[in-house]
Amino acid sequence: MKEMILQTKVKVCTVDELSAHDREVVDAARKATANSYAVYSGFNVGAAVRLVGGTIVTGTNQENAAYPSGLCAERTTLFWANSQYPDKAVEVLAIAARTADGELDRPIPPCGACRQVILETEKRYNTPVRIILYGAKECYVVEDGIKALLPLSFDAGFLE
Ligand code: THU
Repeated sequence: MKEMILQTKVKVCTVDELSAHDREVVDAARKATANSYAVYSGFNVGAAVRLVGGTIVTGTNQENAAYPSGLCAERTTLFWANSQYPDKAVEVLAIAARTADGELDRPIPPCGACRQVILETEKRYNTPVRIILYGAKECYVVEDGIKALLPLSFDAGFLE
């Protein structure tokens, strides 16, 4: 039997090592955590996207007493950005989280459903989304888009 090796490259750095341009979108995600509605988990997630042309849009996780009715910060942000600016490609997505104890030291990665939505966004605008995952002690930067975090992905190509 043959094997396929699927490789993922993620850069690891501190927030200070990011460019000022990247820090701006990361700081927007960190600030957005204050607007999270996470009364059930106490896990406040903020996301921010930079659209082509420079506009930054933020969003947060929105929970619900009927748990599955809530939505992650990444999807809230992408759906809002794509609704308000349907003609503007998403170039960068930053994610940050905090709890009652403060910001997390390590980055939180997007869940599977959010990865699928990021993939759809890339296909829609034919533009890879750089992903920056913020942690107080270290950040991860995924330069080449969601394929690094969602290998063997399902997209519209299979529906043809
Ligand atoms: N959450 C996000 O908003 N983004 C992620 O990438 C992971 C999890 C939210 C969903 C829920 O409101 C809370 O964090 C705990 O899972």
